[in-house]
Amino acid sequence: MSIMEFTPNKQAKTPLYEQVAQRVSKMIEQGTLRPGDRVPSIRRLSQQLQVSINTVKEAYGFLEDRRVLKARPQSGYYVSARRPAPPAAPSLSRSQISPTRVSLGEVSQMIIRDTLNPELIQFGCAIPDPALLPTDKLARMLGTEARRHPIESVSYAVPPGCEALRTQIARRMVQAGCNLSPEEVVITTGCSEAMMLALRALCAPGDIVAVESPVYFNFLQLIEQLGLRALEIPCTPNEGMSLEALEYALEHNRVKACIVITNFNNPLGCLMPEGKKRQLVEMLGQKGIPLVEDDIYGDLSFDEERPSVAQRYDSQGEVLLCSSFSKTLAPGYRVGWIAPGRYQKRIEALQMVMNLCSATPTQLAVAEFLANGGYDRYLRSIRREYAKKVACMSEDIGRSFPEGTRVTRPRGGFTLWVEMPTKVDSLELYDRALKHGITITPGPLFSASGKYRNCVRLNAAFYSERTAGALATLGRLACELATS
Ligand SMILES: Cc1ncc(COP(=O)(O)O)c(C=O)c1O
Repeated sequence: MSIMEFTPNKQAKTPLYEQVAQRVSKMIEQGTLRPGDRVPSIRRLSQQLQVSINTVKEAYGFLEDRRVLKARPQSGYYVSARRPAPPAAPSLSRSQISPTRVSLGEVSQMIIRDTLNPELIQFGCAIPDPALLPTDKLARMLGTEARRHPIESVSYAVPPGCEALRTQIARRMVQAGCNLSPEEVVITTGCSEAMMLALRALCAPGDIVAVESPVYFNFLQLIEQLGLRALEIPCTPNEGMSLEALEYALEHNRVKACIVITNFNNPLGCLMPEGKKRQLVEMLGQKGIPLVEDDIYGDLSFDEERPSVAQRYDSQGEVLLCSSFSKTLAPGYRVGWIAPGRYQKRIEALQMVMNLCSATPTQLAVAEFLANGGYDRYLRSIRREYAKKVACMSEDIGRSFPEGTRVTRPRGGFTLWVEMPTKVDSLELYDRALKHGITITPGPLFSASGKYRNCVRLNAAFYSERTAGALATLGRLACELATS
């Protein structure tokens, strides 16, 4: 394929410079341009593609930000060193798909507590870097809203919760293909409460819940606490849960509910393609199995537009869509929500018994931020920032981690899944890294059956020149374990 095949699409939503950047990236992916190769000069490419010099400059700048290209002073742009390969797709051995009673140690609690230690480099928990959050604006809005609504802000926001916030959420979710009314949204205390209410409403002790594998470890903890059993369905790093494996698992197990993080899942960062989202809803719908969909990372796409949710394909009210503003705005505000479909009455009744309702002032503040705080502008900048951090961190992992290490290539969110040679025990790596002031999340936490011992999840949100040395140290420790 030659660069001359480029035809700019002036009607497309993708800016011209990004189209040029995509064209150059494709040539790199296909091996036409190799690591270390010099790419055409700005002037030459602008003539070849018949676009302006500025467009090519912006395209090269965009690729430099993502560490695809490197500028060398007086010499031009070069293709960067190769990033580690993504992990291989899991083998879908059918005999491995059987439900497990979860028993997890205290490691996950330690990792969450690590976030309180300002001395540690935070590569562990999947939290945003507070330095990138709009903290001042949110704090101002919190004060203004409490003064503007003095009675409401000290009163219970009885389920379904603050109307102004539900209205904003329903409006925003149009971008995800949802047709929700504010009455169909229930505000919760974070996405965690939404998930807990969903599982409580759908399952009784002993029931089986299908989850992705690897799976966000708090889901496993929740399943354990509710006395349920987890059925791990393998994921491919690109497309998420294997529907072939799910179909087989559903034929052989009485599954009561299925949890899927469809967009930029935690930990793999994979994005389920549109067709698969539809297929997932249809497959579960035919068997009368509700889907609990977690879309907490949906707004953090590296592309121009956010992906849609599987809920859009649901006509039976059998998808319970859960999310929160913990990854985008403020985890500590504890503002989340659920669109529970036909289970809404049950969810609201459960919430009233267990929690009465969520705190009112932060609901008002987030509603105001969504209405008048420039949320979309803020999202555009934060997405660019995370895209850069994810690209830089994965490239640097390629430099310092043991030979044969593989890293995912997420298209949104801020977590990386790193698969190291089998000799590296990630629990041992966690202990050694802590001694060097670094926290990470070891792979076995993401499985109910002790898989992923040689894997770690790393949070790229805190990656910067300041923390690059810590990553190099982590790589060195992993190399020591690989050769010990
Ligand atoms: C996939 C996923 N769901 C839910 C949560 C918890 O969200 P919240 O802080 O809103 O309860 C997290 C946090 O890491 C997460 O990664």
